[in-house]
Amino acid sequence: MNAIAPTSTVAVVGTGTMGQGIAQVALLAGHSVRLLDAAPGRAEQAERAIGERLDRMVAKGRLDKVVRHAAAGRLNAAADIGDLAGAALVIEAILEDLGAKQQLFTALESVVGEECLLATNTSSLSVTAVAAALRLPGRLAGLHFFNPAPLMPLVEVVSGAATDPAVAAALGDTAVAWGKTPVSCADTPGFVVNRIARPFYAEAFRVHEERGADPATIDALLRESGGFPMGPFELTDLIGQDVNEAVTRSVWESFWHDPRFTPSLAQRRLVEAGRLGRKTGRGWYAYEDGASGDGTGADANGPGRPEPHTAAPAAPPAAITVYGDLGPADALPAIFEDAGITVAYRHVDGRFRRPGELPSPPMALADGRAYEEERKPGFVLLPDGTPLALTDGALATGAPGGPGRQPGIRFDLALDYRAATRIGLAPADGVPREALEWAVGLFQAVGKKVSVIDDVPGMVVARTVAMIVDFAVDAVARGVATAADVETAMRLGVGYPRGPLEWGDALGPAWVRDVLTRLHAAYPGGRYAPSGSLVRRAASGRGLL
Ligand SMILES: NC(=O)c1ccc[n+]([C@@H]2O[C@H](COP(=O)([O-])OP(=O)(O)OC[C@H]3O[C@@H](n4cnc5c(N)ncnc54)[C@H](O)[C@@H]3O)[C@@H](O)[C@H]2O)c1
Repeated sequence: MNAIAPTSTVAVVGTGTMGQGIAQVALLAGHSVRLLDAAPGRAEQAERAIGERLDRMVAKGRLDKVVRHAAAGRLNAAADIGDLAGAALVIEAILEDLGAKQQLFTALESVVGEECLLATNTSSLSVTAVAAALRLPGRLAGLHFFNPAPLMPLVEVVSGAATDPAVAAALGDTAVAWGKTPVSCADTPGFVVNRIARPFYAEAFRVHEERGADPATIDALLRESGGFPMGPFELTDLIGQDVNEAVTRSVWESFWHDPRFTPSLAQRRLVEAGRLGRKTGRGWYAYEDGASGDGTGADANGPGRPEPHTAAPAAPPAAITVYGDLGPADALPAIFEDAGITVAYRHVDGRFRRPGELPSPPMALADGRAYEEERKPGFVLLPDGTPLALTDGALATGAPGGPGRQPGIRFDLALDYRAATRIGLAPADGVPREALEWAVGLFQAVGKKVSVIDDVPGMVVARTVAMIVDFAVDAVARGVATAADVETAMRLGVGYPRGPLEWGDALGPAWVRDVLTRLHAAYPGGRYAPSGSLVRRAASGRGLL
C-alpha cells in the first residue's frame, strides 16, 4: 500500500491545537480536508484560524497567494460525522481519553468506507486499546505528530497489536508525501521520543531538588555545555508543567512504576500550585512583570531573567600536568595548550599514549578482564596538587584523588569541549579555595564561562546524557524502534544535538555504563542501574549503532 492519493480527502476530528496543525499540513499537501469537532462552532473556528495562518504565510512570502486560495477552497468544516463518509484517512486529535477515542472510532467505522485508514494522534494511550473496539482494528495506527505540527518534521507511526503492517507503511509513506519524516515504533508507553526524553527532565529536576544547582544554572549547562537547544526548566515552562508532568506520570504508571521513570515531586508541587509555566505567567520561572521566579528572577525574555551561576574572573595556573587519558574530555589538554598554558603529560600505570612519551605494550590482565575496564580515568593536576577530573558518576567528595589523594574537583561533560561556552565545576568538600580558583581560571582562559555547582553524583550534563543513552539502548533492545529511527526521532522530535546512540558511541559504552554504575551506587533503588543491553554492549566492545 502506498501513500494515500494526493487528491483524496483527509478528515481531522478534534480541531484544537494538534488537529488544526495536522489539518494545515494535509491541506498544503494538496488534500481536501474535512474538520469535525464535538464543541459547537469549533470546527468553523478552526477553519478560520487555519485560513488566517495561511494568510500570514502569504504575507511573509512563504506561501503563494494562488496556492492559498486553492487550499481555502478545499477546507471545510463538517456538519456531522456523516460528512466524513468519503475520507481516505481520518486522523483523530480529540481529548486524551480512551473511552472517547474508542467511541469516536466505533462511530466512524459505520460511516467511512472499508478502505479508509484510521489514525490516532494519542501521546500516551495504547494504540492497541484504542483499536480494540473496532470491527477492523487492522486499519488503525498511531500517527503521532509533534507540536506545532506544521513546523515539527517528526511523525511517529505506531503499530498496535492488530495494526496491518501495510496500513502502517501507507501512513509512513503519506507522512513522507506531506514533507514529514516518519519513524516506525511499537505500541509501548511514550513511543520513542516521550520515552527516551524522560531523563532530560527528570535528572535536572532531581539535581535541583537536591539543591545541587538552581534551575537557571542547570538550564545553562545543558544548553551551553550539553548542546541542547533549551534547558529542561525553560522548556517545560513552554510546554506547560501540567502537560509535561502528565506525560511523565503516564509513562511511569504504564511501566508499573518502574523507578527509572519516577516523576518529580518538585514538578508535582508546581502543578498543584497552578504554576504551569508561561501560560499562567509562572512555572519554574516567573513571567509576569515584576515577579520573581523560583526566588531567583523574573521574565525569561526580559531583564529580570534569572542568571545562571557564573564564576567571577580568576587567574589560570601557568602550568598543569595531565595524567593519563581524560576519556571523553581528552580534547581538553590541547585546548589548554592552544591558550598558552604549559601542559606536561605523565603516564598512569605505565601506559603511555602521546607522541614523545615512551611506547608501552598493551596491558594484559591476568584475570581476563577487558583492558578498558581496568583503565583508571586520567586527571589534570593543578599546581597545589589538587586533581581536576571529568565526573565519573560518583561524588567528588571521598573519591580517590590524584597521587597525593587530596580532595579533587570534577568538571562536567560537554558535547564538544572546543565549542562549549560554559563548563560546570563541582569541588569536593575540603578543596582549597585557591585550587578552585585555578580550575575556574583554567576554563576561563579557554573562553568558557564557569558554573560552580554543589558536589552531586554525575553533575548535570554527564548524568543526563548517560541516562538518555541508556534509555535509547534499552528501547532499541526491546524492539521499540530501530537504532536509526531512535536517532532520527531524538534529533527531530526534541532537537537533541546528536542521536543518543551516536553520542554513546562517542563517549564509549563502557564509560556510560561506569557512570551509571556509580550513580546506582550513589542512589540505590534501581533508577540508575544500567540496562542489561548497555552492560552487554559495553562488555562485548560492540558499538551502539
Ligand atoms: N498538545 C500537544 O503537544 C500534543 C502533541 C502530540 C499529541 N497530542 C495529542 O493530540 C490530541 C489532542 O490534543 P490537543 O492538545 O490538540 O487538544 P485540544 O484540547 O487543543 O483539542 C482537542 C479538541 O477535541 C475536541 N473534542 C473533544 N472530544 C471530542 C469528540 N469526542 N469528538 C470530536 N471532538 C472532540 C475538543 O472540543 C477540542 O477542540 C490528544 O490525544 C493529545 O494527547 C497533543
